[in-house]
Amino acid sequence: MSFAARLETELAQFKTDGVYKRLNYLDAPQGPRTVMEGRGEVVILSSNNYLGLCNAPDVVAAGKAALDRFGAGTGSVRFICGTFTVHRELEAALARLVGCESSLTYVSCWNANEGLCPTLLGEDDLVISDQLNHASIIDAIRLAKAITKCQTAVYQHSDMADLETKLKAAKDRRLKLIFTDGIFSMEGDIARLPDLLELGRKYDAVVAVDDSHATGVLGKTGRGTAEHYGVVGEVPIITSTLGKALGGAAGGFTAGPAALTDYLTQRSRPQLFSNALPPTVAASALAAVRHLETHPALVTRLRDSATYFREQLAALGFRPLPGATPIIPVILGETAKAIRMSEMLLDEGVFVTGFGYPVVPQGHARVRCQISAAHSRDDLDFALGAFKKVGTKLGLI
Ligand SMILES: Cc1ncc(COP(=O)(O)O)c(C=O)c1O
Repeated sequence: MSFAARLETELAQFKTDGVYKRLNYLDAPQGPRTVMEGRGEVVILSSNNYLGLCNAPDVVAAGKAALDRFGAGTGSVRFICGTFTVHRELEAALARLVGCESSLTYVSCWNANEGLCPTLLGEDDLVISDQLNHASIIDAIRLAKAITKCQTAVYQHSDMADLETKLKAAKDRRLKLIFTDGIFSMEGDIARLPDLLELGRKYDAVVAVDDSHATGVLGKTGRGTAEHYGVVGEVPIITSTLGKALGGAAGGFTAGPAALTDYLTQRSRPQLFSNALPPTVAASALAAVRHLETHPALVTRLRDSATYFREQLAALGFRPLPGATPIIPVILGETAKAIRMSEMLLDEGVFVTGFGYPVVPQGHARVRCQISAAHSRDDLDFALGAFKKVGTKLGLI
């Protein structure tokens, strides 16, 4: 069988199993609503555009101006000739935002995580990862293990007793790295950061937080999980994305002490062997950070809208997972049910994705709603109307 024929067989099986993903094509920017090919206008409830900055005029204008000033791309990796002044400005702004001394950008947070683990960890070291961490952390750790033979462990989700047991057993390790998501992307819950920092201090371990869903979202002014808990400046390492609240284009970064970002500049392989963030993207992200800093009310609006949507879903009879973030999963059980519900919601003009196995555990399929500060009350009520109609048809409420 040719390799293409083998893939076709597997793809056919995905379709039989009801787990095949069809792409929806959008013909307008990300906003509270967009235009979907073949569907017309739809309300988006599945975007990470938490602050509505994907299409904010200042964010778009900054990208255009950078295109004129710097051209399309860096044409090289950072240390050869791929660093523009806008990279330095962006990195200073990101470090200030998340409360670290320094930051270093990558073309994605996936890249930032994969740049961090194999660079930091060696044969004498151990990384301990939350069971529900994002795939980019999992793969970064797998890569580190394959390259450096570092030790790895996984603790039960947010279970501090389990983490402590694993830390106790690791006294002889040179570096102990605890890696967690800030907001867990499928559940929408928040890491127990103060407890993690406390354990870090007790067992001389370094805490790294991937704040991709929390940057621009958590805390009074959107500085992330650290601000949510009042511990800005105390988190040793933060990675995050520019592809969600901060303009939504692409890109990621690692923040921490200046020695860390300098070390990553010297040794992290995605830095050494892959082109830098395009200047258009860097400038848009910088404008997004400035927008956030000058419009903290956006974060309050996001929080209020998320609370409203969660409460109204519950009032309709759904049982969204409890939480305090704009990620609002409605658990449905079977994968096929989640996919069916998301298709029916799309028929009603609401774009929200159903997630099933293997993205979430078997039997925990869900539709995951994500709220944006850009949603008006009308947008949210329109979506709630669709949930009511579809939920009734499916016998869920
Ligand atoms: C926790 C977490 N880390 C990393 C990423 C990947 O970010 P990027 O798109 O910048 O690679 C995501 C995106 O879903 C995420 O949720």
